[in-house]
Amino acid sequence: MTAVKLILDKKREGHALGSAEIREFIEGFCRGEIPDYQMSALAMAICCRGMTQRETADLTEAMMRSGAVLDWEGVTSLPTADKHSTGGVGDKLSLVIQPLAAACGVAVPSLTGRGLGITGGTADKLETIPGYDASLSLDSFRKVISSVGVSMTVQTDEITPADKKLYALRDVTGTVSSIPLITASILSKKLAEGAGVLVFDVKCGKGAFMKSREEALQLAQSLVSGAKAAGRKASALITSMDAPLGYAVGNACEVEEALEMLSPGECRVAVEKARALSVELAAEMVSLALNMPIDQAREMCREKLSQGAAKAKFVEMVAAQGGDLAAFSRLLEKPVFKYRIQAMRSGFVSAIDAERVGKVALSLGAGRGKATDRIDPLAGVRLSVAVGDKVSLGSPLATLEKSSDPDGLEKAAAELFKAFVISSDAPQEEALLLERID
Ligand code: URA
Repeated sequence: MTAVKLILDKKREGHALGSAEIREFIEGFCRGEIPDYQMSALAMAICCRGMTQRETADLTEAMMRSGAVLDWEGVTSLPTADKHSTGGVGDKLSLVIQPLAAACGVAVPSLTGRGLGITGGTADKLETIPGYDASLSLDSFRKVISSVGVSMTVQTDEITPADKKLYALRDVTGTVSSIPLITASILSKKLAEGAGVLVFDVKCGKGAFMKSREEALQLAQSLVSGAKAAGRKASALITSMDAPLGYAVGNACEVEEALEMLSPGECRVAVEKARALSVELAAEMVSLALNMPIDQAREMCREKLSQGAAKAKFVEMVAAQGGDLAAFSRLLEKPVFKYRIQAMRSGFVSAIDAERVGKVALSLGAGRGKATDRIDPLAGVRLSVAVGDKVSLGSPLATLEKSSDPDGLEKAAAELFKAFVISSDAPQEEALLLERID
């Protein structure tokens, strides 16, 4: 097709594409008229030459319109909002933030993902609750939003099929790490979800997709300006992902830790830090959705947590999606194969490499190397310490767990041990929240 070749030439030479050119290219790709090799060539040209904000917005819109676009009018009278995280190790915050925002009077229709690689997926975590249906039809999704006000389910094939097709190509053509392509991929899915407010948690650091602060900032700005260009209210928080969030890295163990965060009263130090970050992100959603000053929204979130209203919303959502929390408690009591590692010297934990911990959890069966892999719900790593903790020779650092067989535990333990840096001096305390973008 000559027009297609002209578009490829134009982007290769670094020129901006027109709105119609972008739309027609994506439509042709979805209909199967533009073959994978030409779509891959465009993705590579975008990777090398970039895109203007306007082109990124056009690409996002074309991808969004490749499938169903949800509309909440008539389903709920509440303002709608969602939070998206770019993914981290031990990142169970959605399990807290989404019901917390719902407890404040915001409807939260959350289409979520399954884990791939070292970052876990919220759907996989929720599916460790026996009976929980994370594959709702769009009709059931609407019903749960109407009755409970929050629902978390995986994105169906009806939503942004263009992204699914394009992501598969990007994955094998070295074109994942392009800010315009990442923006269009994330944003098209979130816009199709139909929420009026979008808050992004852009993770930055060793265990994140964006390793540097500069890259995280670029992505955060691109997501926020793209969401605003599409008529949504939006903000982003750039948050640290050098060390895992909380102590639990896995699936069932992360749900257990999220329940600790949702429960009124004190929790363990690193869990409390993760809870404080959840409050910040939920407050962004509440503030934008209810037009409320951020301090007031933060106060409301703290109150809903301490009154148990956020936990009640989580329990209500789980029940509405068929989950049985009593059976989940019994699952946690099942025997698992364990291997504990301990400190070989005394001092302070000055770093816990999130990427390494994520890889170890993945190797134990907590995640997927490829989309078809099965997950062991009880596999994972339970850290005994957090960055800043004082340890003595022989103090426990972490426990590795898996349920199928003990194979590989010892090798994984040796790898996990390398994630810990213990030094004589206490490290400087690092905040989880690095920067806000709006
Ligand atoms: N997450 C997505 O959904 N898309 C990307 O391109 C990268 C991360």
